[in-house]
Amino acid sequence: MEIFTWDDKYLVNVKEVDTQHKKLVDLINRLNEAMYEGQGCEMVEVVLKELVEYTMTHFAFEENLLETNGYPDFKSHKEKHDDLTKQVVDLKAQFDGGRVMITLQVMKFLKEWLSTHILDIDKKYGKFLNDKGVV
Ligand SMILES: [Fe+2]
Ligand SMILES: [Fe+2]
Repeated sequence: MEIFTWDDKYLVNVKEVDTQHKKLVDLINRLNEAMYEGQGCEMVEVVLKELVEYTMTHFAFEENLLETNGYPDFKSHKEKHDDLTKQVVDLKAQFDGGRVMITLQVMKFLKEWLSTHILDIDKKYGKFLNDKGVV
């Protein structure tokens, strides 16, 4: 069951970034599935770990792309990534410590966490990078 349906409105029009965003959407959907299929904590744990790790990989890739191309809002963009990273790292720590369960409410939070960042923040750099020849 999908909680996050991909829509082309999320495209930033930089190919590799869009591929990575789709993978993050996919991981959120897989986490949702693991939660519903009641595969116990193990599957949820595996996917949550992958989501946290891939988030870091993606943010590092994006930051490198923005910094090397001289994106003017690089600093504030990186700060937003740091905030978002802290949120999922905290979630994972709470889950690992048995203090929180992955519920529909958590899944809705993760969907918002990613979709809001793509729509409000990532989409802003698309044209800037395209103009620099990054497509
Ligand atoms: Fe970003
Ligand atoms: Fe992104």
